[in-house]
Amino acid sequence: MTIPENVEIAPSVLSADFSQLGDQINSIIRANGSVLHLDVMDGHYVPNLTFGPLVVKAIRKMTQMILEAHLMISDPDAYLKDFILAGADIVLVHPETCSSVADTLNQIHDLGAKAGLVINPDQNLSLIDPYIDQMDQLLIMSVVPGFGGQSFIPEVLDTLPAYLPLLAENQVLIEIDGGINLHTIAELKQTGINRFVAGSAVFNSEATPGKNYLNLLTQVSQD
Ligand code: DX5
Ligand code: ZN
Repeated sequence: MTIPENVEIAPSVLSADFSQLGDQINSIIRANGSVLHLDVMDGHYVPNLTFGPLVVKAIRKMTQMILEAHLMISDPDAYLKDFILAGADIVLVHPETCSSVADTLNQIHDLGAKAGLVINPDQNLSLIDPYIDQMDQLLIMSVVPGFGGQSFIPEVLDTLPAYLPLLAENQVLIEIDGGINLHTIAELKQTGINRFVAGSAVFNSEATPGKNYLNLLTQVSQD
């Protein structure tokens, strides 16, 4: 079994047991996890509410793993500094929440983090066209943002093949978020996706987060 180069699983703590958050993250650390996905929701851009920089800071103290903050909030510009000072390595924003997407991406870079744009299932990938050379990461939502445990929407990948050369040329990491589990991830080999966010498939009662994480990694590996 070979783990393909540049393929990672990013556990989303949204589905974690928050009364055991430290233990659950430690389980991922013991499994050699490389990246954690932190879903920030404000009850306004999406109907759900989660956590802010305080939790990012607490996780930062535990681990050197890459921390990516997926900001599902109405005014990300007001909080970029807080999240980056708290320890976020990558900040992912939804373009329609930024007053100027180019300025937001610049600001994230100036604050010392990597920057990415998030495309929802009902949006066209062409939204990223003006910004490709400013992006470190593209996050394609394969569910409507707001909640864990939804079903994967395969159509979100219809236009990705046409973008692969341009994304590669600009060294933009490609990530997918929503409905990733042992079945869906197996269908997504050789699509060019580098990073798979998984919430409910990692944090559940079937096994430890570390074991679930490793199972997903095995599933996306080449035979
Ligand atoms: C949804 C979040 C996801 C969520 C994915 O808005 O952005 O990161 O945690 O959950 P699953 O993997 O359960 O679909
Ligand atoms: Zn997310």
